[in-house]
Amino acid sequence: MFLRPSCKLQVISIRCQNAAPRLFSTQVHANSIDITANKFGNKYETALPYSEIPGPSAFTFLKNALPGGKCFAKDFDEITKIYRQEYGDLFKFPSLFGSLEFVTTHKPEDFQTVFRTEGQWPARSELKTMTYYRTKMRPDIYGKHSGLVNVQGKEWGDFRSAVNPTMMQPRNTMVYIPKVDAVAMDFVKRIHQIRDPKTKEAPENFEHELNKWALESVAVIALDTRLELLNDNYNKRSAKLIQASKDSFRLMFELEFKPSLWRFISTPKFKQMIEALDVVTNVSCEIIDEAREKFNNKRESSRNDDESVLEKLLQIDPSLAKVMAVDMLFGGVETTSSTTTCLLYLLAKNPEKQEILRQEIMTKLPTKDSLLTVENMKHFPYLRACLKESLRMLPIIAGHIRTTSQNIVLQGYQIPKGTTVAMGVNRLQIDDKYFPNAEKFEPERWLKKDGVPAPAKSAHPFIFLPFGFGPRMCVGKRFAEMEIETLVARILRNFRVEWHHPDLKFKFTSLKVPVDKLLFTFKDISD
Ligand code: HEM
Repeated sequence: MFLRPSCKLQVISIRCQNAAPRLFSTQVHANSIDITANKFGNKYETALPYSEIPGPSAFTFLKNALPGGKCFAKDFDEITKIYRQEYGDLFKFPSLFGSLEFVTTHKPEDFQTVFRTEGQWPARSELKTMTYYRTKMRPDIYGKHSGLVNVQGKEWGDFRSAVNPTMMQPRNTMVYIPKVDAVAMDFVKRIHQIRDPKTKEAPENFEHELNKWALESVAVIALDTRLELLNDNYNKRSAKLIQASKDSFRLMFELEFKPSLWRFISTPKFKQMIEALDVVTNVSCEIIDEAREKFNNKRESSRNDDESVLEKLLQIDPSLAKVMAVDMLFGGVETTSSTTTCLLYLLAKNPEKQEILRQEIMTKLPTKDSLLTVENMKHFPYLRACLKESLRMLPIIAGHIRTTSQNIVLQGYQIPKGTTVAMGVNRLQIDDKYFPNAEKFEPERWLKKDGVPAPAKSAHPFIFLPFGFGPRMCVGKRFAEMEIETLVARILRNFRVEWHHPDLKFKFTSLKVPVDKLLFTFKDISD
């Protein structure tokens, strides 16, 4: 039992008030001026009404989700695939028990229309469980700023403008390369320690080791703190943080997307979610407060460019700095470690590409202890192409979400302002129509050669957006890319990575995560 007894009754009544009018409701919004029709040549007034967009009824959606139904125990990608086969490239997921009704599209032209009309403050539908937790249960931390993920409008714009210079400008993000490289070097030592001495295979819990690397790396950027996770005797509160952040992503999918009664009663999954969010908040805040204590003891004169994101943001607004640091520790673990898993896996399955990449790495790191620097990290085109190709083939997100900021027309249907639109990119990224030989790992498709543009450039520009689009794109993009590229460069400089098992399986909840054990083999490179 997790909800505080004093607020439980009030909580349930608030949820019921909010949810009741939307039970099985259709979320259609009032008319507003139709600018899109003029821009894109689609007339809103003459388009088919929103109510005629195909899709399962609330009853069918519920029936299919229950045991025996065709969507039971399926992940988000599989459920979308089932309905896409039935209803085509544009369909509607109904509202059920107060969940959000949303339209799903699989046409890049629609993605373009949605993104191009997103306005100054692009909106993504909020995660109700997180909003509830942050605003109702933890105003002590999130009262002034609730974090980027869930807020909208000017509040989002102000927060984002405050953090962008520190988190998005290459000059300010690349300064962390030496610290992130030091973590990657420790990870290489860790592989030496934990792999099987004879077979050189990683242990069954290697996914956890990658999660620890991701947390260690993001903490060094966010807080200038080494959590010392890459050994056997690491502080177990960090393991709790990792587990809680993974649980939150999984439960978000269960509570926000699948039929659930949590808006009416405290279901077991809702309680687990609140518990997980509380662990994330409490452990992150403990770690952040310790880091702040350290800065306070530091002399003003010892300030430098590579001071942590927290230190830089504290000079703007302490409450904003804390919330951003919590979200970095929360959002910066499974995203980065799953993407790294996908890239290592594809390199292991494509040894000839791995070898080409190793040659590039050898030129910049002639010895195993040569350092990665701001300068030499600029010269890894093949590594960058490998990461893009991996994000194309095995993206960790199924698609993008926007709440439309004006009336638009998609595939001949009216989409009123305020509608949530999900853009399913992951299937298009592996469609031959857009990327010839789509099932092949070909980093070369991202590289221009002899003045000829990179072949992938001819694909529709709104399909491959692994970090999202526009002013609301991922705020951790630069850190994530840098961490992944640094680690993969280090690993390939030291080991040949192999895979000797059946194909690795993944599943999509809110993120794509591996289902099987990450039994990579790490064979030593001679010098
Ligand atoms: C490879 C790793 C990652 C991928 C593929 C990824 C992908 C994404 C995507 C697709 C979005 C939505 C963008 C949009 O709506 O246009 C997003 C948002 C976000 N990401 Fe990431 N992400 C990654 C790593 C990270 C990391 C390391 C952090 C923290 C340091 C982070 C923090 C966030 C935050 C706070 C948002 C919300 C931004 C906003 O609404 O303004 N992400 N991410």
